[in-house]
Amino acid sequence: MILPIYLYGQPVLRKPTEEIENTPELKQFIADMYETLTQAEGCGLAAPQVGKPWRLFIVDGNELAEDYPECKDFKRTFINPELIEVSEDKCTYSEGCLSLPGISEKVVRPTTIVLRYLDEDFVEHEEEFTGFQARIIQHEYDHLEAHVFTDRISPIRKTFVRNKLTAIAKGKVGAKYKYKRN
Ligand code: NI
Repeated sequence: MILPIYLYGQPVLRKPTEEIENTPELKQFIADMYETLTQAEGCGLAAPQVGKPWRLFIVDGNELAEDYPECKDFKRTFINPELIEVSEDKCTYSEGCLSLPGISEKVVRPTTIVLRYLDEDFVEHEEEFTGFQARIIQHEYDHLEAHVFTDRISPIRKTFVRNKLTAIAKGKVGAKYKYKRN
């Protein structure tokens, strides 16, 4: 089932998230998230973006594999993730977000990270990610911390996107996928 994607201005995107437990309904919810992500042609989706204040996100890098080969077949589920290390080395990529349609801005973030998380079977992993994989993960992790990527852009760029953000929050902007707005 395709879920509506909550757009900027929806309170759930600014709420703290809670750790989740393995329930019979969770597998179906995750399957719905993948279906939602695929139809929206995105590369990552966090639970708050579909209305749940939970510590869960999924990634599917196949959409970006042409530009970033490390993203080919990078399709994963991250449950109760914990960012335990970030590199001093930073890099800049242009980011967008399904909750912020029409906005794309350069964001500086650590190049390499170490993440502890549970997979779909609730098996714990501690794993290093780098390049665009690390980028997608950090963007999605931000959603669990009640951040969106425009929180991290330069002050000058913030003034440029302010009107766009306001328009989304006021329900004046739509998207080509199923969405929920004010
Ligand atoms: Ni996003």
